[in-house]
Amino acid sequence: MLIRILKSLIVTLGCFAAISLFAQTPPVDAEGHQWWQHAVFYEIYPRSFADSNNNGIGDLNGITSKLDYLKDLGVDAIWITPCYPSPQVDFGYDVSDYENIDPMYGTLKDFDHLASEAKKRGIHIIMDFVMNHTSDKHKWFIDSESSKTAAHRNWYVWHDGRGPGQPPNNWLSTFGHAAWKFDAKTGQWYYHYFYPEQPDLNWRNPAVEKAMFDVTRWWYQRGVSGFRLDAVDTLFEDPDLRDNPVLPGTNKYGDPNMQDKYNTKLPELHDVLRELRKVADRHGAVLIGETWTKDIDELKRYYGDHSNELQMPMDFLFARVDKLSPGEFRKQIAGVDAAGWPVYVLSNHDIVRAYNRYGDGQHNDQIAKVMAGLYLTLGGTPIMYYGEEIGMENNDPKSQEDVKDPIGKIGWPKEKGRDGERTPMQWNDSTNAGFSQTAPWLPIPPSYKTRNVAGELKDPDSVLQFYRHALALRHQNAALRDGQYVPLNENDQNVLSYLRRYKDEAVLVVLNMSGSEQKVSFDLSPQGLGSARPATLITTMSSRPQDVQLSQITLEPFGVYIAKIAK
Ligand code: GLC
Repeated sequence: MLIRILKSLIVTLGCFAAISLFAQTPPVDAEGHQWWQHAVFYEIYPRSFADSNNNGIGDLNGITSKLDYLKDLGVDAIWITPCYPSPQVDFGYDVSDYENIDPMYGTLKDFDHLASEAKKRGIHIIMDFVMNHTSDKHKWFIDSESSKTAAHRNWYVWHDGRGPGQPPNNWLSTFGHAAWKFDAKTGQWYYHYFYPEQPDLNWRNPAVEKAMFDVTRWWYQRGVSGFRLDAVDTLFEDPDLRDNPVLPGTNKYGDPNMQDKYNTKLPELHDVLRELRKVADRHGAVLIGETWTKDIDELKRYYGDHSNELQMPMDFLFARVDKLSPGEFRKQIAGVDAAGWPVYVLSNHDIVRAYNRYGDGQHNDQIAKVMAGLYLTLGGTPIMYYGEEIGMENNDPKSQEDVKDPIGKIGWPKEKGRDGERTPMQWNDSTNAGFSQTAPWLPIPPSYKTRNVAGELKDPDSVLQFYRHALALRHQNAALRDGQYVPLNENDQNVLSYLRRYKDEAVLVVLNMSGSEQKVSFDLSPQGLGSARPATLITTMSSRPQDVQLSQITLEPFGVYIAKIAK
């Protein structure tokens, strides 16, 4: 008996040793921070970034050709939205092979070239991991739908209907109408939270978990530094298929309003995230989450009870503050600051561009600088969206016929789809904004003639120059990297002000979120900085004030003032 116990102890200890040998401990800096905590991330929608072969659609070689631009801008990591083989029903979010590149974007060789060129410049690559569903053209689903006894049948969510022509329950697709599609061949329904061409994987099947985790290992070995986990809150469904509660009224697709109680945010998803994190840790990788949460408590859960789930759950509560409201921003910043390592996002490929959401139509450039001045000087990790740095605007389709994104066709005119925020990057004022020599897959707004990278690089007051300065400062300044967030003048309804306090120094950030001149004064004695003088670091004020007194700062409408405060 004793020998048996000893033997099993030896085996167990052996396993631990093997695991820790294999595990890569990511290097940390003096503050105990890992690379991604000081990095600036940049989301690239590959269809729309740069077209190297002039077919009107961006590609991987296009991205490679712009790495110097990104490095110069101050980007440390790029997240590339799905570029795997796909029928492109949801523009890549319907993956038909997780371990390859869609020919429209290039080849695995092109990917390797991109990865090695990025590495030379110290830029990490983050891939998009579409976990909830595959394409209906994925070989797993093709087998799954072939018969009720197929090897992959149970890899997806199949059920009998409630009666002839009746789906198993009342669940709705977030992209409109029933979330179940009938398969005449096998007489059952399969579940799809998104388009019918995106059948949900059955995460209750261990074979699915194994196959999907292997996908991440495959990419880690190819050199990627992490994943952005797509639609993570929809991984599990209630096994009893209980009907969701119906709410009053109808949604933009004309369906009844419903609370997605039994098909989203099930607690089981956290078990998967903990396991996925173990795999990531063995490769020193970072997991970013598309975590739409209703409040901070929900967001907090994604970090895990022991910081053992996602390192970077995106804080969309911040992006949801859709008005220039210092009070609302203070609330969100304090909330996420207490929850975990903050991950700030202003816009992405699913939401209207920040330039339009915050802009008032008259001072959009100034407002874009206020917003950059805000999220690029906060703690945590910012994730930019391509084109945001030049103040790119939404270019929404003018009619239903022009729409490419299927939800815009289904939901027109209440839902115009997401084409508007996915238009080609505006590189210069030549034909097609320098994106391609052929007509691009989505139209470029006429404003590209003046709003483009080349032009803005020449203009010292452009939005792009503001981003470049803010990012350079963020990289050099210890207080902006590691400083504690200290809100100031918390009752001010027009001006958002705070310190980033680090040891004996601090950076003061003052953002006038109103369209009128504001006067503010600061007493920093509670912070032990009462006698300190500010030294201007970045300002948008035309007077370029140098000799500023903390007791009276006059801010122009939508003015930004960022200064170093030292004893
Ligand atoms: C995520 C993606 C979105 C996609 C959906 C389905 O929300 O960001 O673009 O349509 O998942 O994969």
